[in-house]
Amino acid sequence: MNHRSLALIAGNACPDLAQDIAKEMNSRLAPARVARFPDGEIDVRIDDNVRGSDVFLVQSTSPPVNDNLMELLILIDAARRASAARITAVIPYFGYARKDRKDEGRVPITAKLVANLLTEAGADRVLTVDLHAAQIQGFFDVPVDHLYASPVLTRHFRAQRLDDLTVVAPDVGSSKMARGYANRLGGELAIVDKRRVSAEHIEVGAIIGDVKDRNVLLIDDMISTGGSIAEAARICRDHGASSVRIAATHGVLCGPARERLAAAPVEEIVLTDTIPVDPTGLPKLVVLRIAPLLAEAIMRVHTEQSLSVLFKRPEDT
Ligand code: R5P
Repeated sequence: MNHRSLALIAGNACPDLAQDIAKEMNSRLAPARVARFPDGEIDVRIDDNVRGSDVFLVQSTSPPVNDNLMELLILIDAARRASAARITAVIPYFGYARKDRKDEGRVPITAKLVANLLTEAGADRVLTVDLHAAQIQGFFDVPVDHLYASPVLTRHFRAQRLDDLTVVAPDVGSSKMARGYANRLGGELAIVDKRRVSAEHIEVGAIIGDVKDRNVLLIDDMISTGGSIAEAARICRDHGASSVRIAATHGVLCGPARERLAAAPVEEIVLTDTIPVDPTGLPKLVVLRIAPLLAEAIMRVHTEQSLSVLFKRPEDT
């Protein structure tokens, strides 16, 4: 049992989510001021005593990613210099995760660089949700608790009792995730053959698997420009799907994403709130709360209990 006091602190990336986590924990956010100097530099001040506390800093490294990352690093530094006993970076969405290997000459491995920055700043642990690639955990030499949004999304779709369900991965990289949902929801699996032409444009080839006269659930870890999932939705329709729903853990929604999603031939777009999402112009959007999962995980880290049980409860699997 951890007898240290718990301090929950929010940056500016996802203040509503941080507030929601605090509410779930019957707690409150420790007052912290994250402001700017006139030249744009970030200034931080924690207004509570956190000496000897178990500090949890809630900050997604979502767009504006550089500002949010820098804010998190400075908050960690402030907590460390204020003599926090332990600092956990709670990063509901971990950005810069796509550069996780050197797949051509003279390119960085930015996910590793970010891991180094976080630990160098003073993070003792990391708590995150649906990393783009699970192996990023290995970039850290401190413990990483990797949560899955699957209980939250599975509960939503299970309640819809979709017959003749096919879970579709919009690319090969998402096929493991899609297989998990197909198993949990009792559906078949299909995979879209996607090729990325540039950061914003993709080419979609065939579908491996059957979607004709099926209710399709397209699932991905993130929707960034929306190109992958909107194209995948279109090809599923072209191949005779009777309905198409799309879901992702992280709604990055940059560039043309909102227009693409608004125009996508789908019945529903489901995201969690690891990143704040503006629903304007997206009437089919449903945003599910990730706070209950994060709140329970934070309490379990604080009291040194297992986290894997969160993903083994029958109602969540
Ligand atoms: C790719 O590996 C990811 O799982 C997503 O499919 C991708 O990042 C989504 O990007 P966009 O929305 O820009 O197509």
